[in-house]
Amino acid sequence: MKIIVTGGAGFIGGNFVHHMVNKYPDYEIVNLDLLTYAGNLETLKPVEDRPNYQFVRGDIADRKFVFELFEKERPDMIVNFAAESHVDRSITDPEAFVRTNVMGTTTLLDACREYGIQRYHQVSTDEVYGDLPLDRPDLFFTEETPLHTSSPYSSSKAAADLFVLAYQRTYGLPVTISRCSNNYGPYHFPEKLIPLMISRALADGELPVYGDGANVRDWLHVSDHCGAIDLILHKGRVGEIYNVGGHNERTNLEVVKTILAALDKPESLIRFVKDRPGHDRRYAIDPTKIESELGWKPMYSFDTGIRQTIEWYLANESWWKHIISGEYSRYFEKMYGDRLE
Ligand code: NAD
Ligand code: TYD
Repeated sequence: MKIIVTGGAGFIGGNFVHHMVNKYPDYEIVNLDLLTYAGNLETLKPVEDRPNYQFVRGDIADRKFVFELFEKERPDMIVNFAAESHVDRSITDPEAFVRTNVMGTTTLLDACREYGIQRYHQVSTDEVYGDLPLDRPDLFFTEETPLHTSSPYSSSKAAADLFVLAYQRTYGLPVTISRCSNNYGPYHFPEKLIPLMISRALADGELPVYGDGANVRDWLHVSDHCGAIDLILHKGRVGEIYNVGGHNERTNLEVVKTILAALDKPESLIRFVKDRPGHDRRYAIDPTKIESELGWKPMYSFDTGIRQTIEWYLANESWWKHIISGEYSRYFEKMYGDRLE
């Protein structure tokens, strides 16, 4: 079995590459990544010398490159993680999201049509369903919830999902889609809420909370997401969508306070800043389908997962300090300079 994992130098893709290389020594894992600002080969250090692993640098939206790679590698499966993934960046530069998330996906799908494939798996997000009201805790996203996106990011992911489903119906391509809630865990780029707050708190910097901090996210440890994708690849039904989430809803303020308490830092570091435009209020996944059909169950509660994650950031300072000492420190100034009221 040869699997091309795209975006394997990013957060979830990197964790998935570790998972697959370790669990399936007989599989060949080809990690295809452009190494944008979010891609980091240091994440792959633990597996880079394994005989069943190779890295290829390239752009999923570069048709000539992708077709040549398929010609050479003849993969059995594609797992597409490669994406522009940060909502705030999609608000300042939507076009990059259309290019990679939509055109990159259709380029991969076309290569799958041309060369044949056992499975194309699209790693999608619960953000395609839009948001839920805060005063209706009884509502959850199911696979039947209509797509109703808010940000350029979620719109690009929804567009990609629709192409994936169209290629199944029109061309009979064997596809699956997973739509997961917010992930956290090791190797998470420190522009996203949890690693940003951990790194800021450790530096005794201000913790920028958007709006009133009452927005709710449904957190899942990244290794539980990787386990879900593994199951879908091996047991999922072609043409199906699987929602992935572990019922770990927290307000942003709760998350930030949990991090501060774990690091023994004062809540006075919290700084409420201007809200994100179009900010989704609540995400919450109903994982009944993947649980009942594939027997998936998360291993981490939020409390054990966040503790493990904070410990990882404490033990792996060099990984994230390399990131925030370079290009990213300029990004922080640009993104937050005019948010401070
Ligand atoms: P990430 O930003 O950490 O990583 C994205 C990776 O894709 C990077 O390594 C980057 O170099 C690579 N990439 C970007 N453009 C590329 C291109 N044109 N060609 C090849 N590689 C390219 O993202 P992540 O948080 O690991 O998310 C991975 C996937 O999971 C995305 O598709 C995202 O939409 C989805 N997802 C993320 C979350 C989350 O909470 N982070 C939740 C659900 C779904
Ligand atoms: P993020 O990690 O960007 O994920 P997403 O927007 O895809 O859910 O943000 C998670 C939540 O945290 C979201 O409600 C926005 C909020 N947030 C802040 O309050 N401050 C920050 O500095 C960031 C990056 C996010």
